Amino acid sequence: MPLHAVETFEEWRVAARELIATGVPAEDVSWTASSQSLFSAQSPSSTQTSGTKNFSVPPEFIERARVVACHQDQGRWELLYRILWRLTHGERHLLKDSADDDITRFQRMHKAVTRDVHKMKAFVRFRKVVVDEGEQFIAWHRPDHRIVRLAAPFFARRFPTMNWTILTPEESVTWDQQDLKFGPGVPASEAPEGDVLEDLWKTYYVSTFNPARIKIKAMKKEMPVRHWPTMPETALIPEMLEQAGQRVTQMMNSREGFDTTAASFFPDEMTWENVAAAASACRACHLHEHATQTVFGTGATNAGIVLVGEQPGDREDIEGEPFVGPAGQLLDEALENAKIDRTTVYITNVVKHFKFTEKGKRRLHQKPNAREISACRPWLEAELEILKPSALVLLGATAAQALLGRDFRITRQRGQIVKSEWCDRTVATWHPAAILRMPDEVRRRQMTEDLILDLATVHGR
Ligand code: URA
Ligand code: SF4
Repeated sequence: MPLHAVETFEEWRVAARELIATGVPAEDVSWTASSQSLFSAQSPSSTQTSGTKNFSVPPEFIERARVVACHQDQGRWELLYRILWRLTHGERHLLKDSADDDITRFQRMHKAVTRDVHKMKAFVRFRKVVVDEGEQFIAWHRPDHRIVRLAAPFFARRFPTMNWTILTPEESVTWDQQDLKFGPGVPASEAPEGDVLEDLWKTYYVSTFNPARIKIKAMKKEMPVRHWPTMPETALIPEMLEQAGQRVTQMMNSREGFDTTAASFFPDEMTWENVAAAASACRACHLHEHATQTVFGTGATNAGIVLVGEQPGDREDIEGEPFVGPAGQLLDEALENAKIDRTTVYITNVVKHFKFTEKGKRRLHQKPNAREISACRPWLEAELEILKPSALVLLGATAAQALLGRDFRITRQRGQIVKSEWCDRTVATWHPAAILRMPDEVRRRQMTEDLILDLATVHGR
């Protein structure tokens, strides 16, 4: 029986394609995930090549299989191949059969991995380390599954202009503002934090990812090059550190990286109801101390359109619903003019508690700061992940910058439909409150028309 050793989805895909094309049934293949067995792997081309035929599988399978392939379950390759075999042998619609044992397992694994990726996105906190060459951001995370490759592109999009490294027990990834580089994991029994993480990074990063930083000449003098490959890495590290002058000079924001965020309050099952209930007890930043209540998103949870504002205002804080005050009224009118029924959309905010200063009896809105926004963002991300909007409207700079990056400028990029992490049709537009504040009547009318136009554009397909 051919034994196939595969580590990654791409390797499995290549082997499976050959096996299917040459007509090898699932029960005749055995898969192993272990790299020690590489020698016993039989090249697919050495099996019979007669009877090769073309076949196609639903793209949905490939997409989901890529996710399932990251599951820790040892039997994942077998399962994927068995489903692939069945899909290509008369059961083309197998994926829709939720009563089928293979499909049930496939779906369960897909869900587990997706949730794990979601948790990674929410929990990873970078710690800034300043070295001679500049700043490096490092994070330690322990995922349940092998999801580093799945999640890495998200971090590259989110933090494109930072040099960062995420270390996990089995794999690691580094972003140098251009490419993602994957490396081995960091064998550590406990989650390293603080200075331990920093030390780990210094040794690990220097040795694994950036030999170019090391002063090669100085090293050659000390150690003949021919010895390098045979030296245990651990022996090289102190030398490398010293020779390269790789000294950590300063720790900045050392606390910030480990501060609590809303993700610490996530429920086990990430349904909308559970998440909303959990958010009502959120204490991830100090804003809950003075506000009346958490104002979570409301509306149709199967809505195609999701609107995101900044944070609740005075009325919203009292009523517990977003956009019910003056800004909400303007928004309602704009929605109506854009021929969108408010009851069919979902409305929420980046920050879920009202931030204000008191002036006499009045409570004046204050802009949330970066710390509060990042503490609260996991709630919004969870909402978007659950709702999977087909159109996403970001009202104002806070929402736009929280989801599209700090460099986003409403004044320049308003009304353009862009693809974002959460939705292929994302648009940023004026915040209704900004329109209300505009003293110039003509300008105010123009902005209102812009808002209506943007809503109508993103809505109408
Ligand atoms: N402004 C917002 O951004 N959100 C609200 O919910 C109300 C006013
Ligand atoms: Fe939690 Fe957000 Fe409220 Fe802060 S503002 S306590 S992060 S819900």
